[in-house]
Amino acid sequence: MTQAQLAQGQDPLLAVRDVSVVFGGIVALNGVSFNMHKGQVLGLIGPNGAGKTTLFNCLSRLYQPSSGDILMEGQSILKRPPHRIAEIGIGRTFQNVALFANLSVMDNVRIGAHSKTSSDIISDSLRLAWVRRSEVAVNKKVHELLAYLDLEDVAHTTVAGLPFGTQKRVELARALATDPKILLLDEPAGGLNHEEVHVLGDLIRRIRNERHVTVLLVEHHMGLVMSIADHVVALNFGRKLAEGTPAQVQADPDVIKAYLGSKDQ
Ligand SMILES: Nc1ncnc2c1ncn2[C@@H]1O[C@H](COP(=O)(O)OP(=O)(O)O)[C@@H](O)[C@H]1O
Ligand SMILES: [Mg+2]
Repeated sequence: MTQAQLAQGQDPLLAVRDVSVVFGGIVALNGVSFNMHKGQVLGLIGPNGAGKTTLFNCLSRLYQPSSGDILMEGQSILKRPPHRIAEIGIGRTFQNVALFANLSVMDNVRIGAHSKTSSDIISDSLRLAWVRRSEVAVNKKVHELLAYLDLEDVAHTTVAGLPFGTQKRVELARALATDPKILLLDEPAGGLNHEEVHVLGDLIRRIRNERHVTVLLVEHHMGLVMSIADHVVALNFGRKLAEGTPAQVQADPDVIKAYLGSKDQ
């Protein structure tokens, strides 16, 4: 048991159980298991091709594991289509920003808020009153998030014209608009400069501390993971190589070997 588990002494928020993914002949994930606890920032690291994005795509339901299970608050999520994961509190961003480039920042965030509320409609007779009430709530939430992520000045700007770092903040705002319990981030530092990575690290920490969102951070950038993760899972060739605190994982001989052996480090 890790210290975080002992300290919290509770059931995991998310459990990955013996998950394998096979593409044709390639075993992209091979029997991977770990738990995520409420309030954690969990860093998932590994060299290119280790299986990080494959696991991320299983969690966001784009890929179906060949075997194993993924449980959110004790319930399997494997029968759930990707557009219905926001309802159970899983929010995500994309490795390459996937915003509506021709819409404003505000409209992109509004879409996030609607993707959560639109499935809550109870009946047609209640619908009009509900829509009016929910519009007010959505507007409030959108404005609060734009302020939180320092996007008020660009609220009416089209996303396509914004710097990449700002687009990433818009994506975060859109994901937070679904009120996630868990936020899945796939390589959020990719394409950012040193200063932007630092700002992003602070922001992820604030999201966890102030909004009580549990974060799964899939990241190749070791520095970012080591500075903000409470718990780290290292993958290599689809298998779990090591797990523990950032210091433990960083000092693990297998992890050092895997990173030294990969061409991109
Ligand atoms: N859709 C796919 N079809 C076939 N092979 C894939 C697919 N996605 C990933 N893979 C393979 O699975 C392995 C893990 O890839 P990936 O999860 O993208 O690694 P990472 O994100 O850690 O760089 C790689 O060998 C990759 O080529
Ligand atoms: Mg990847």
